Amino acid sequence: MKSSIFFIIAVLFFSCTSEEDELKLSKNPYGIGSVQKLELAPINDSIMKLGAELFKVKCAQCHTMEYKNTGPDISDLLAYRKKEWVVNFLLNKEEMLQRDSLALITVQKYDTICSANITNETEALHLLEYFRIYQIWLHEFNAL
Ligand code: HEC
Repeated sequence: MKSSIFFIIAVLFFSCTSEEDELKLSKNPYGIGSVQKLELAPINDSIMKLGAELFKVKCAQCHTMEYKNTGPDISDLLAYRKKEWVVNFLLNKEEMLQRDSLALITVQKYDTICSANITNETEALHLLEYFRIYQIWLHEFNAL
């Protein structure tokens, strides 16, 4: 009797630990693998071009990179712009495109300017709400 109880406890113990091992999540921000520290030289133009070519051939069928469309990818907008900035941009785009330093950085990278046609604050706030949910969709796992 005693030994069968020990046996059951032992079985329970081992089944629990192996299940835990299988499910154990890694929170290592470097990922899981041998590459844990990279010392990189300044960006090399020709290597970068090889990478861009590789991307076109092997990745672009499913992934896009910034600057691909007429305007930038703005799904992650609130990660790099304040919410007030976004609302101001939508409501006062003409002035910001002339003298807001952040707006000017972006405009330099594109052939044309944003033609967002937002006429009132309500519309701007509706859009802001949409950008806010994208922050959760894009970054929820970072909170773990
Ligand atoms: C056939 C479609 C397809 C191709 C081709 C493809 N990917 Fe992906 N990739 C996906 C999908 C779908 C996901 C999201 C699911 C996942 O993480 O596996 C993803 C996820 C990723 C992620 C993880 C992003 C994250 O935040 O977890 C990286 C990095 C990535 N891909 C890079 C690449 C690179 C670089 C190439 C080219 C060498 C490539 N992929 C080719 C479809 C593809």
